[in-house]
Amino acid sequence: MKRIALLTSGGDAPGMNAAVRAVVRKAIFHGMEVLGIKRGFAGLVNGEFWRMDLSSVADIIHRGGTILLTARSPQFMTEEGQEEAAYNLKKHQVDGLVVIGGDGSFRGAMALGKRGVVKTVGVAGTIDNDIPCTNISIGFDTAINTATDAINKLRDTATSHERVFVLEVMGRDSGKLALYCGLAGGAESILIPEIEFDLYEICDRIRKGYQRGKLHSIIVVAEGAMSGIEVGKQIKACSGMDTRVTILGHLQRGGTPTAFDRNVASRMGAKAVDYLREGQTNVMVGMMSGEIRSYDLDFALSQKNEISQEIYELARILST
Ligand code: F6P
Repeated sequence: MKRIALLTSGGDAPGMNAAVRAVVRKAIFHGMEVLGIKRGFAGLVNGEFWRMDLSSVADIIHRGGTILLTARSPQFMTEEGQEEAAYNLKKHQVDGLVVIGGDGSFRGAMALGKRGVVKTVGVAGTIDNDIPCTNISIGFDTAINTATDAINKLRDTATSHERVFVLEVMGRDSGKLALYCGLAGGAESILIPEIEFDLYEICDRIRKGYQRGKLHSIIVVAEGAMSGIEVGKQIKACSGMDTRVTILGHLQRGGTPTAFDRNVASRMGAKAVDYLREGQTNVMVGMMSGEIRSYDLDFALSQKNEISQEIYELARILST
């Protein structure tokens, strides 16, 4: 393995830069050359290669976003796009490719790996933390902290005005972010796509809470479960309480990565290089119970990323 390339793809996540730094520096440590690809798979199709050295990744470990830029590329989804991408990798004599992103990005890595031009390793980077075969993905911890901070702030004003607040957080298909910030922030109700909910029952809980002397009620809703605006309307109608809605949106994707995310990113990025050196391909770096190992991508992407029913129940019990 003489020359590797790396790209970040899909939605950015805080800590991606720390992973980029780890890949570049670990590869150079082992005497390899590193090419960064700008704008994810779109840049791979368009041939946006950048020769990186030790100083290319200086002063980025603490920065959110990704210095490699990222994109969602419809062009790469086509046969021609993938052929062009494979051609560019060959032209630049790339032996191994590290893809940092979510499940869509991993499917892209798999498609390239199967063409046999390059060995591929995926590193999980998404605030959704919805990748199977890893307990944690880069960016999740920072996003939970951002969302928990928002809950803390909403709680202040909710209490002062004795209001209900609905906070919509990201998570198109996954409720993990909603669940963990909801638990950390003591939200009264958490609505996620994986578990059915009944807004009348939630209204009932809100009313009972106020009768017992509660001064506020916070409902966290994952965007994939229902629109926050709609939840707010329905809760106001059925509970009669003064209700406000906040949509956190892309604030969750930015910001300085937490120490935890930087450490995970540094370890996973470095491992990706090890796996390429060992000749592994079509794998992802997974961290299960604190231990890092490689998982076959076909296997990983065929698995379901389950939500913990136990933690969901716990959040419910503790916020009664
Ligand atoms: O995949 C991460 C994510 O932040 C999702 O939670 C969210 O639904 C989506 O990206 C938003 O994507 P975009 O930035 O393209 O609007």
